[in-house]
Amino acid sequence: MKLMFLGAPGAGKGTQAEKVSAKYCIPSISTGAILREAMSTGTELGVKAKSFVEKGALVPDEVVIGIIKERLAQDDCSNGFILDGFPRTVAQAEALDAMGIKMDLVISIEVSDDDIVKRMSRRRLCEKCGASYHVIHIPTKVEGICDACGGNLITRKDDKPEVVLDRLSTYHKQTEPLKDFYAAKNLLVLVEGNKSIDSITNTIYSKIDSVRG
Ligand code: AP5
Repeated sequence: MKLMFLGAPGAGKGTQAEKVSAKYCIPSISTGAILREAMSTGTELGVKAKSFVEKGALVPDEVVIGIIKERLAQDDCSNGFILDGFPRTVAQAEALDAMGIKMDLVISIEVSDDDIVKRMSRRRLCEKCGASYHVIHIPTKVEGICDACGGNLITRKDDKPEVVLDRLSTYHKQTEPLKDFYAAKNLLVLVEGNKSIDSITNTIYSKIDSVRG
């Protein structure tokens, strides 16, 4: 299965991709997570990406296309994968086509801008292992401490309300046109993202199972 999650920043792509990855035993590939890891270790890629990510802009197409080409060539992708946060522009989607990759299903998680802004201010991330939490919907057992590894929880720099508004504007201008791109290929399904996490997961499983036959 080759699956793709589309949706605004904070729509729940990473949350759902993690569940789908565990259920169907395919890796979830998040360009955002790869960029954050590179930024925290200060690699050349991280230095290049930092200024774009922190102001809510997209990292240049050629950089993320290079990341994805390299990642998809790894052995664990041979039985399928989930793309979370890639492609984000029509040029990136065309690059995926040019690599000969045919997606089986593209799931767009739909949440209104107002709900996104509220949600993002409550997201917390483990600075050590990257696990994602939400103060109300996915709280940790001990406040401020990651359940998985004991690391400290932080707020992502790009989750500040003013940056979230820029990310939303970038999404509407540059990424939302991908819905038409994949609808034209009969691959797109829309999923209402303002419900409980579990009910969205169940809807997504049923969409995937109907494609798997
Ligand atoms: P990236 O990390 O991909 O950020 P994003 O798309 O903006 O998405 P998020 O990770 O913020 O949100 P999500 O949809 O995964 O939601 P989540 O599940 O965490 O990218 C970051 C940056 O990197 C970009 O801005 C860009 O600069 C750069 N970048 C990345 N890919 C790129 C590309 N291809 N091209 C160019 N640049 C690129 O959920 C959010 C919160 O809500 C969590 O706290 C979660 O617990 C909670 N939550 C989830 N579901 C629900 C629910 N149903 N109800 C209530 N709360 C919920």
